Amino acid sequence: MYASFKSIGAYIPEQIRTNQWFVDRMDTTNEWIVKRTGIEQRRIAQEDENTSDLGTKAAKLAINRANIQTTDVDLIICATISPDFLTMPSTACLIAHKLGIKDVMALDISAACTGFIYALNIAKAFIESGMKKNVLIIGAEKLSNIVDYTDRTTCMLFGDGAGAAIISATDDKDKAIVDIQCSADGSLQDLLLTPAPHSSEASFMQMKGNETFKVAVRTLTSDVQKIMENNSYKNEDIDLFIPHQANYRIIKAVGDALKFKDEQKVLTVAKYGNTSSASIPMAINECFEDGRLKNGSTILLDAFGGGLTWGSAIVKFNG
Ligand code: ACO
Repeated sequence: MYASFKSIGAYIPEQIRTNQWFVDRMDTTNEWIVKRTGIEQRRIAQEDENTSDLGTKAAKLAINRANIQTTDVDLIICATISPDFLTMPSTACLIAHKLGIKDVMALDISAACTGFIYALNIAKAFIESGMKKNVLIIGAEKLSNIVDYTDRTTCMLFGDGAGAAIISATDDKDKAIVDIQCSADGSLQDLLLTPAPHSSEASFMQMKGNETFKVAVRTLTSDVQKIMENNSYKNEDIDLFIPHQANYRIIKAVGDALKFKDEQKVLTVAKYGNTSSASIPMAINECFEDGRLKNGSTILLDAFGGGLTWGSAIVKFNG
């Protein structure tokens, strides 16, 4: 059996928070934020809307678009760093309940911004081993819950949102995910972290932005070079390059180093900011809805996040 990327869905919270919101509250300017990050606005979930609510809405769309029933889903994986509850119950269990799915394995994974690619890799392994047939993977984040709004160097970067996909078994190799590579390096753990509630610090996200930036550009570039070489892929074999949306300057530096054409590069960071594990599926969904992503398109995914974690994937879209 092979794993095929059958459908995509996303949920984008209605409330828009522009850069002016930050200008009104801290020592910053719209020009600084746009020049250093490319971000113009981000979406913020309602107070009573949790990560599992965002994930459930994205999942419903992905299930409908895959033309399957909720009863066909046999594994649920949710990637998040902003779960409804700390450690338990998992957000995946809550999403399963909200979808009315009973008696299936459901778990969360923590790989920060690389979470969706990690989830995709786990789904692929379960399908190729023959253990599961239709895996629901979700990247969902209510980062506004864990952002420190007194830290002007990080708070303007992040937004809320969710994306989901159905990965299904197929015996047609031409429709299969081509390859996924995931990795991690815990020695760089202090670049991005959220202190535990029992520590002396508040449980807000902390980031050494400038150092993270340099490692991100280096790692994302070499990661893509490796997966392309390992699979004998050339730039012209890729329809869309969909990197994690952390910062316009990171995407530009990586895209230029890899010599992708502008029309191949997918950019959503200006509208949504960094939504961590949700950023790649939200971007895939946008390409699907505006017609850039078609059945048979080949997409290249690339992400980097706290841990540190990183990963890339070459995927044939089969939706
Ligand atoms: N407004 C105005 N000035 C600011 C602001 C602000 N909001 N924030 C910082 N500054 C100032 C700093 O104080 C500094 O001033 P100084 O030169 O007088 O000391 C100056 O701007 C430059 O600060 P840097 O931190 O060096 O700015 P940089 O160009 O690195 O941009 C940023 C900061 C946007 C955070 C960038 O480093 C970045 O995007 N980093 C990587 C983010 C990322 O990829 N994260 C990984 C994924 S996230 C995840 O896994 C959850």
